[in-house]
Amino acid sequence: GTPETRTPTGAVTGCPASAFGQQGAFLTTANGARLRDSDHSLKAGPRGPILLQDHHFREKITHFDHERIPERVVHARGTGAHGVFTAYGTGAAICRAGFLKKGRETPVFVRFSTVLGSRGSADTVRDTRGFATKFYTDEGTFDLVGNNIPVFFIQDAIKFPDIIHAGKPHPDREIPQAQSAHDTFWDFVSLHTEAQHHTIWNMSDRGIPRSYRTMEGFGVHTFRLVNDAGETVLVKFHWKPKLGVHSLTWEEAQLISGVDPDFHRRDLYDAIEAGAFPEWELGLQVFPDNPEETFAGIDLLDPTKIVPEELAEVQPVGRLVLNRTPTNFFAETEQVAFHLGNLPPGIDVTNDPLLQGRLFSYVDTQLTRLAGPNFTQIPINAPHAPVNDMLRDGFHQHAVHAGVAPYRPNSLDGGNPFEAGDAENAFVDVPVRVAEAPKIRANPASFDDHFSQARLFWQSMSAVEKEHIVAAYTFELGKCYEQVIKERQLRCLAQIDPVLCEQVAVGLGLPVPAPASELADVTASPALSQLGAEWPAD
Ligand code: HEM
Repeated sequence: GTPETRTPTGAVTGCPASAFGQQGAFLTTANGARLRDSDHSLKAGPRGPILLQDHHFREKITHFDHERIPERVVHARGTGAHGVFTAYGTGAAICRAGFLKKGRETPVFVRFSTVLGSRGSADTVRDTRGFATKFYTDEGTFDLVGNNIPVFFIQDAIKFPDIIHAGKPHPDREIPQAQSAHDTFWDFVSLHTEAQHHTIWNMSDRGIPRSYRTMEGFGVHTFRLVNDAGETVLVKFHWKPKLGVHSLTWEEAQLISGVDPDFHRRDLYDAIEAGAFPEWELGLQVFPDNPEETFAGIDLLDPTKIVPEELAEVQPVGRLVLNRTPTNFFAETEQVAFHLGNLPPGIDVTNDPLLQGRLFSYVDTQLTRLAGPNFTQIPINAPHAPVNDMLRDGFHQHAVHAGVAPYRPNSLDGGNPFEAGDAENAFVDVPVRVAEAPKIRANPASFDDHFSQARLFWQSMSAVEKEHIVAAYTFELGKCYEQVIKERQLRCLAQIDPVLCEQVAVGLGLPVPAPASELADVTASPALSQLGAEWPAD
């Protein structure tokens, strides 16, 4: 007597989730036949070979042989937790998304990660950290897929394979696991100088957080919000940890990597289990939606730039509390699939060329990682909003869809599916004007400033923080084999600050480059005239 269950799509499935729960009183095969013995294979006599007909043996071994799925191509090492987001209501005037309405509680799942190490790498390495949040809102899932550093290495997603190839272990010897201690990494960031701002954050204490609980999170890109009246603003998302921002010292990070490589994972789990629930406040920097998409002269579409909080204060809109650890690491933390296109009505994307590329990449990689197009049916990815999507079939289809072929309107299947009122609750792309401009492979000229914000960051540091940054550059560059790369990176540091450059050069035992040393800027946009385009330079 298995009861039929009905999915939100109206699909009928014959198998309640409890059938997979491994809770029964006795052991069975995967098909439910009761087993008497799972410790001895079926053999031709006690000393004979195993018989091919031993279905239970083959099923047990085959399933085990296929237990692993590919690790994420980046952010492979991570840990997750469930929680709840409670809105203050302060964001409701600028964003129509229901989850920002006063007092609204939304379940969430958060996955924290390092970027470059493999699944089994140590937690306390110097690296950027991922901070990805899935809000299961009533109006569809919202994924805020951010990092603990507010800027990114590159300005255009087309370079993502290149920066990751440069940062991952060398192809011949598969070392190092740590991000930055090698030639290809420093080769990339000294040639693609747009990476220098993110890199100085990595070399600061932000690169070795004390705990996931003491990290800020940043949506990095600028997003566009729309309110009930159809008015728009541009925003950047910020997570502020209630415990404040804390880092490890380099010596602590080294010791902990050896003594407890699971340090951050354990810290999060233990805190939640002990009832010390980690908390963050979600805040917004809000900018007028002007046609230039700039604020205080800063190009809001350039993901290597911040807007200093002194110029646009972060306005709190709600509180996140993580209060439950996963029941099963694989089912939840490993199988969770984030995607920047998962947006509720009221939140829209901008033309940031890094964001635009990410909109393609995540689902694409998940089609391989989670084997086919039906991974939104995996419980951790299933929306909490009703689903009626007309998608059919494919690998790992769990729904048994009823009715005729899914197309709309469909006069064979109950008439018009769009109920009165649906349209006003639906996601509507903000009808922003798309520039009438030539097709071109180039950046706006404003993207060519690669050093002024790295300099701002350096100048904002205390004396001790500066010492740590110098020590980090000296250690990491000291691991490079190629002198030419160290020298080129020193010329980049000279563009940031002469004292920083000199101290690192002394640490490396290399001559200090002349103040205005020539720096080949391979990433600057080609002049538009060279590209044969007639487009007024901005
Ligand atoms: C994974 C953040 C840029 C491709 C992730 C994850 C985070 C993240 C947090 C881990 C998700 C998880 O925990 O499952 C960011 C941020 C970026 C950025 C903040 C820049 C602002 C990019 C770009 C691309 C990219 C430019 C490609 C064009 C990927 C891929 C994964 C990933 C393929 C693995 C996803 C999966 O297997 O589920 N990213 N990323 N990311 N990111 Fe990014």
